[in-house]
Amino acid sequence: MDRIVHLLRCPLCGGAFSRKDSSLICPKRHTYDIARQGYVNFVPGQKDMFYRKELFESRAQVFAAGVYQPVVERLTEMLDAYLPQENPVIVDAGCGEGYYAKAVCPGRGMTRIGFDLSKEAVRLAARGEKTAVFFAADLGSIPLADGCADAVLDIFTPANYAEFKRVLGPGGLVFKLAPRSGYLRELRELAADQLRRKEYDGGDVERYVHEKMNVIAQETICYTLHVSQETAYHLARMTPMLAGTDIEKLDLSAIRQITIDETLYIGTVK
Ligand SMILES: C[S@@+](CC[C@H](N)C(=O)[O-])C[C@H]1O[C@@H](n2cnc3c(N)ncnc32)[C@H](O)[C@@H]1O
Ligand SMILES: [Zn+2]
Repeated sequence: MDRIVHLLRCPLCGGAFSRKDSSLICPKRHTYDIARQGYVNFVPGQKDMFYRKELFESRAQVFAAGVYQPVVERLTEMLDAYLPQENPVIVDAGCGEGYYAKAVCPGRGMTRIGFDLSKEAVRLAARGEKTAVFFAADLGSIPLADGCADAVLDIFTPANYAEFKRVLGPGGLVFKLAPRSGYLRELRELAADQLRRKEYDGGDVERYVHEKMNVIAQETICYTLHVSQETAYHLARMTPMLAGTDIEKLDLSAIRQITIDETLYIGTVK
């Protein structure tokens, strides 16, 4: 935390923080405690909604099973290609339990920061973590100083382009991943009876991204991989795409493979 205090700013008044014992204090004396696990909660009182602790635990299981490893590898290649500078500052916006912030560019020196509205997610992200710093915060008021970041990762998370633009330095890039029509197709087909929205094509997101960003690179990341029963169960539990379905009613033994189908957009904010 000490290494990044100068990158933070008060989400209430925009003032710079100084550290006093286990608190961060701005000139207007807005005070935030640094938890024992090393994270800061900038949204005290915020209730966790759909994203509950069990969901993040399932996400962690899916990540540990390597389902998203090819995505991490491609992101790593692109981050290396587009951020050649030494020790870039990357911000994982809506980081969940912090998988990408920790896993991209293994072994490379980076200042890794992740934040999420969910305190539970941030607590999981920060647990035992030495290489990245996490905090609970809202995309609408990111507690980071103007121009402090080289890249923002926005992975399956809503975007706030005005805030991304503010925290990015000159030439700073957004790396955005969004689902395409084939994403978790097998699970959505299995749950079709229960789903209100059966088809998903990602077209709205695509249009909005091009409205808000100067996209300099765009590509599809698509693959199908075999999954165990257990991983299929955790995938069903973790994805917002099955929100509202009764997972216990699904015959998950029918799921032997899973399709990951995503678009990666890289660009500056307009
Ligand atoms: C589908 S999850 C993706 C998490 C992570 N990026 C990943 O790919 O594993 C979406 C995340 O966005 C977070 N989120 C939603 N609204 C947010 C907001 N206003 N500010 C910060 N995070 C938010 C949720 O808490 C959740 O962790
Ligand atoms: Zn303040």
